[in-house]
Amino acid sequence: MKLRPTAGPAPVRPQGPPPELSVRDVTVRFAGLTALDAVSFTVAPGSVHALIGPNGAGKSTCFNVLSGLYRPASGQVRLGDAALTGLAPHRIAALGVARTFQNIVTTEGTVADNLMLGRHVLSKAGFAATALRLPAVSREQRAHLDRAREIAELTGLGGHFDTPVGLLSYGDRKRVELARALCLEPRVLLLDEPVAGMNGAERARTAETVDAVRAELGLSVVLVEHDMGLVMRLADEVTVLDFGRRIAHGSPDEIRRHPDVLRAYLGTPGEDPA
Ligand SMILES: Nc1ncnc2c1ncn2[C@@H]1O[C@H](COP(=O)(O)OP(=O)(O)OP(=O)(O)O)[C@@H](O)[C@H]1O
Ligand SMILES: [Mg+2]
Repeated sequence: MKLRPTAGPAPVRPQGPPPELSVRDVTVRFAGLTALDAVSFTVAPGSVHALIGPNGAGKSTCFNVLSGLYRPASGQVRLGDAALTGLAPHRIAALGVARTFQNIVTTEGTVADNLMLGRHVLSKAGFAATALRLPAVSREQRAHLDRAREIAELTGLGGHFDTPVGLLSYGDRKRVELARALCLEPRVLLLDEPVAGMNGAERARTAETVDAVRAELGLSVVLVEHDMGLVMRLADEVTVLDFGRRIAHGSPDEIRRHPDVLRAYLGTPGEDPA
């Protein structure tokens, strides 16, 4: 039997580049509707891969498959050698895939409380040990708190670490979600509309944060966003969905000029969606 290690310092993020995330022929159906129709794309290690498309195209459905909330009718998702399809959400999170949700903004607790919730999954100490306040547990908790503080700094929330989230601006509250996802030490971060509802200044700050996070932590990012300026600025590659089908794939520049993309967004070819 392998003994569990004693509670020591908090786990550090895995070394080296993240594994490739591969989505192959994923189909999801709801009653009569095909929300994803044999969709494939590959997220290169350490890249920002944008998933764009008009409302109802299937972007959040795709995230729900990647994070294990939906099981596809067919198709596969792999992270390196690991098959993710059919795994429960907590198993996928443990393999290094973390996400934010399109419409959820935290209102409870302080920034620190919310980030420590993210660390909980990584905690080695069991419930009994925590309740007994064993010294090794407090050491582990302190290490988690230190790491949560570092992540708050990285995401521009360092000055608000002990502030109740209810007192933060909307933009900062949305960034708490991003920071909480980072507290899982993911290798792949799924961001579902990270700047929705933000003003221009908040959008610019979040774009800088995503850039900084990618550079500092070396993780892959899958970005769902309607803000084309942000997509064009941050993405290395873009996959475009429309009515559940992949209609285009390429560099931001290729996508900007792609006739099918222009048609999907504007109904007419020849204009630039950005
Ligand atoms: N749980 C569900 N049950 C039934 N239909 C669903 C469900 N979830 C999504 N759909 C439908 O699947 C399609 C894709 O929805 P999805 O939320 O993935 O789109 P989206 O690209 O994220 O759109 P938006 O940009 O508006 O967020 C839509 O037609 C939606 O109504
Ligand atoms: Mg959506």
